[in-house]
Amino acid sequence: MAAAMALGAQGVWCGSVWLTTDEAETHPVVKQKFLEATSSDTLRSRSRTGKPARQLRSAWTDEWDDPTHPDPLGMPLQPILVNDALIRIERGAHRPGSGAEQLANYFVGQIVGSMNTPKPAAPVVYEMIDEFIEAVQRLGGLLES
Ligand SMILES: Cc1cc2nc3c(=O)[nH]c(=O)nc-3n(C[C@H](O)[C@H](O)[C@H](O)COP(=O)(O)O)c2cc1C
Repeated sequence: MAAAMALGAQGVWCGSVWLTTDEAETHPVVKQKFLEATSSDTLRSRSRTGKPARQLRSAWTDEWDDPTHPDPLGMPLQPILVNDALIRIERGAHRPGSGAEQLANYFVGQIVGSMNTPKPAAPVVYEMIDEFIEAVQRLGGLLES
């Protein structure tokens, strides 16, 4: 946030950080995967929307990336092709041992490596504000020394 504001932004837009909050409607299996993931566990894949979108690597993205398998279609055909399958995967992933757990994934940025603790959204906002103040004060201190 401090870096963006320093570059002249009027605000910041963030997405991934909310996906492991208590309020998020993230599938519980995917939420757990996010909490355990490192920043190297995402990739850009066209497998969900037909356009490249960063998401968690899973058996789903591995199968679509396999060069012996067909490429994803373009947008909007890929969602039309896969949406029913994704809904069934989400439903199946609620049943441990169904195999759907391995396929389940979702859009998320590389910040997923820092999303290690489930918490309510409010502390996420307060932590962001605290870190912003700390960063700005640290930078301000550079002028004094
Ligand atoms: C679940 C999810 C869905 C998103 N959907 C869109 C989208 O439809 N269009 C878009 O331009 N960006 C989308 N984004 C990207 C966010 O708007 C935002 O630019 C990005 O998540 C910011 O980086 P961060 O996730 O590291 O905070 C999405 C991000 C997430 C996590």
